Amino acid sequence: MAISERVRKRMESASWIRQMFEMGNALKAKHGTAKVCDFSLGNPNVEPPEEFTSTLKDILHEEIRGRHRYMPNGGYPEVRRKVAEYVSGEQGVSLKGDHLILTCGAGGGLNVALKTIINPGDRVLVSTPFFMEYASYADNHGGVLQTVPGLKNFEPDIDAIASRITDKTAALIINSPNNPSGHVYPEDTVQALGALLKKKSKETGRAIYLISDEPYRKIVYDGMVVPPIFPLYKHSIIVSSYSKDLSIPGERIGWLAVNPAADDLDELMNGIVLCNRILGYVNAPALMQRAIERLQGFSVNIELYQHKRDLLCGGLSKLGYDFIKPKGTFYLFPRAPGGDDMQFVQALQEELVLAVPGSGFGSPGHFRIAYCVEDEVIETSMQGFERAIRKVQ
Ligand SMILES: Cc1ncc(COP(=O)(O)O)c(C=O)c1O
Repeated sequence: MAISERVRKRMESASWIRQMFEMGNALKAKHGTAKVCDFSLGNPNVEPPEEFTSTLKDILHEEIRGRHRYMPNGGYPEVRRKVAEYVSGEQGVSLKGDHLILTCGAGGGLNVALKTIINPGDRVLVSTPFFMEYASYADNHGGVLQTVPGLKNFEPDIDAIASRITDKTAALIINSPNNPSGHVYPEDTVQALGALLKKKSKETGRAIYLISDEPYRKIVYDGMVVPPIFPLYKHSIIVSSYSKDLSIPGERIGWLAVNPAADDLDELMNGIVLCNRILGYVNAPALMQRAIERLQGFSVNIELYQHKRDLLCGGLSKLGYDFIKPKGTFYLFPRAPGGDDMQFVQALQEELVLAVPGSGFGSPGHFRIAYCVEDEVIETSMQGFERAIRKVQ
């Protein structure tokens, strides 16, 4: 056998997703890429801001000896300080550089966090719908992801979460703004989750971490502000990246910050720095650290995504699709007409529109449209969306 049982299992559980992508590629090969409206991937189509490119050019023109060498595993101390300063402003809590490390994206940061806190067999809770990679990330470190059905409005079911917590629970992951629903948790929700984890940590005798996965914090609409996490619960860890808001997912740069109020802070931070190294990341890419040091607060023009959201929501609502208008991200998560998400995504494929069934996010009966595409793709897709919904009505 070429691969481990564990990896085989993970591949099997994701095999339908692979088949779907293969089908999408086959459609593109047959009809030509331009004819296929591909909403299947969260790969930003907007180019990085001009400041990103010019900053990189500036950095390359500066002569700095040793700039490509290894560095402390948590990242350059001055970059950690700079990002910590920015995050302090967002969170309203004073962070030092020592409370934050630079990571290989949010994906890298989540793996570092989970490796640091999980004992074999521990549970990690998440409310549905959720970013499907969490299951693999927990499994990477001997943990098990336990999903808790969310409410119809994409809010977490706090009582249901409470009933799942045991002394095996290491963490609850939240992701707001959420992939795939675009939902943003209001402050009351985070406060209630914090209060629950505080109570349960006391009962179980272990710190249950709240891991907030926030790569979409800046991609919000209509004046929405994502509430800070740190003031609401002390055992909290935030993971983020520049993949989406600077449109640089290929560069693998992000950060992980620990609440300075957490118990055993030094031990936790030392564990986190060690895990960044021993997971093989060693440190986040040097050149990208230098770039983001100078780009705190910058992002792509969020209005471009807001326009795409409005174009898509306007079109789909005229056609009779049922959805909650997203407050952030570049995803829409409508109910699947007819009720069967796999069948409906298949019907869309027949109309050369590619989307992802909600089953892949733990929420069957919905489907995800990633609208980080050109406006023309959204416009062209409306015919396909119309024909697909007519088929099941
Ligand atoms: C919710 C969520 N978390 C984490 C990630 C990973 O992002 P990164 O490129 O920063 O690793 C993604 C990427 O799509 C995501 O949607």
